Amino acid sequence: MKILVCVVFLFYNVLLYTGSSSASDISCVNLTFSNVIVRLDNEHGVPCSDLSNNQAGNTPKRIDHRSITEVEISMKQRYKILEEKLIEIERQLKAKDESVQQLFERSIKERYDSVQSKLEELENNFKEFKKLSTTTDEALKKELVEFKKSAKTKDETLQEAVRNMSILEDNSRVHFDQLQTNLTELQAVTKNIIALQLESGKIPRSCKEISKEKSGKYVVHFGIRMIKSVYCEQQVQNGGWIVFQHRFNGEVDFNRSWAEYRDGFGSIDGEFWMGLKYLHKITSSRKYELLVEIRDYSGNYGYANYDHFEIGSEAEQFTLKVGKYSGTAGDAMTFNHDTKFATADHKDSNFKAAKYYEGAWWFGRASYTNLNGPYKNATGIHQTMYWYDFHGDLRGMAFTRMMLREID
Ligand SMILES: *[C@@H]1O[C@H](CO)[C@@H](O)[C@H](O)[C@H]1NC(C)=O
Ligand SMILES: *[C@@H]1O[C@H](CO)[C@@H](O)[C@H](O)[C@H]1NC(C)=O
Ligand SMILES: *[C@@H]1O[C@H](CO)[C@@H](O)[C@H](O)[C@H]1NC(C)=O
Ligand SMILES: *[C@@H]1O[C@H](CO)[C@@H](O)[C@H](O)[C@H]1NC(C)=O
Ligand SMILES: *[C@@H]1O[C@H](CO)[C@@H](O)[C@H](O)[C@H]1NC(C)=O
Repeated sequence: MKILVCVVFLFYNVLLYTGSSSASDISCVNLTFSNVIVRLDNEHGVPCSDLSNNQAGNTPKRIDHRSITEVEISMKQRYKILEEKLIEIERQLKAKDESVQQLFERSIKERYDSVQSKLEELENNFKEFKKLSTTTDEALKKELVEFKKSAKTKDETLQEAVRNMSILEDNSRVHFDQLQTNLTELQAVTKNIIALQLESGKIPRSCKEISKEKSGKYVVHFGIRMIKSVYCEQQVQNGGWIVFQHRFNGEVDFNRSWAEYRDGFGSIDGEFWMGLKYLHKITSSRKYELLVEIRDYSGNYGYANYDHFEIGSEAEQFTLKVGKYSGTAGDAMTFNHDTKFATADHKDSNFKAAKYYEGAWWFGRASYTNLNGPYKNATGIHQTMYWYDFHGDLRGMAFTRMMLREID
């Protein structure tokens, strides 16, 4: 455009033959190519004040006609040439413009296409995403439903478990309450029965008072504020024996503490030890005799009878007192007469002996018997239920029973 403006300026200077400066003030800033052409055609040099700072407003010179015509012809020719040139330039520029336009358009188009494709891509992506998100959503939904289902099941199971538990609790509470009631009732009934039996003299005061034929468990009222379930041996040697030690299968461990030998252990239906405190109570109220039964692993039976049997108090450490021996097993117990009871855990007793013999007995310096020792088919060692005087050796017994009976 700058070139064009300069051309127009030169052309205008040459054309200043009319000397007219009356032309309106047309803005030269807006001299687009087509505008210039229009002006050149119709106005023939309308002065542009911005471009003709020297001549504008000056008085035109006077020129003769001939020279005007010449000049006119020459100018016309020049004009023509210029016009052609201008047209050419315009064409070129137009072409350029077009190419620029085209370029621009292409670029725009490309850009548009690119944008379009990007948009499409985005759209596709979006669609994909949407699809994806839908599937994900559906999968999620499914999962959620599954989860909810499982949670519901779990919850139901849990609730059921809780219900079951509370039912169980209620049941057990009811059961417990009933048991408690039953127990209370039972205790009351037992009390009544005992009272009635005592009144009518039906509770035996010893195994001797019980029918001779039947050995077994009986409740005995020993008269000394002591009612106890005991095993009565009713056949051996006229019966009436209260069993306080019984061993025959080794099922009950006899390696026990002081407290256990004091209070008793095992069951009177099987192997057991009655308890030294009961023996003391019983034997301190009346006169008693002792019967010891033994049988070895070959089936040989023997017995030892002592016409006096008495057990001291715990303060006396359950000291043993035995009377005169009679029997078939041999006298192995007189040696233990007037001897304190000993367990491995009781430091005031001959606990070392108890430890050595692995039993609990009225151990003195030594002992010819160890009926609370290990239940063992062995011989030659002290750690068995031996009765030395039976065979004159330390063989263990397969069966022992110790019983007491009152002497009238
Ligand atoms: C420039 O010229 C165009 C027409 O060619 C016109 O529409 C426009 O208003 C002009 N601008 C100025 C500033 O004179
Ligand atoms: C609840 O008790 C019923 C019946 O005893 C049993 O079948 C069920 O398995 C129990 N449920 C649970 C969760 O323990
Ligand atoms: C309580 O005794 C009744 C009958 O006297 C019996 O049916 C019930 O099972 C007993 N309850 C328990 C918990 O032992
Ligand atoms: C006997 O009991 C004592 C104390 O409880 C223990 O130290 C010892 O090992 C036991 N002996 C046997 C043979 O079990
Ligand atoms: C006891 O031991 C002896 C010698 O080892 C054996 O001959 C006998 O069969 C055993 N008896 C029993 C009942 O185990």
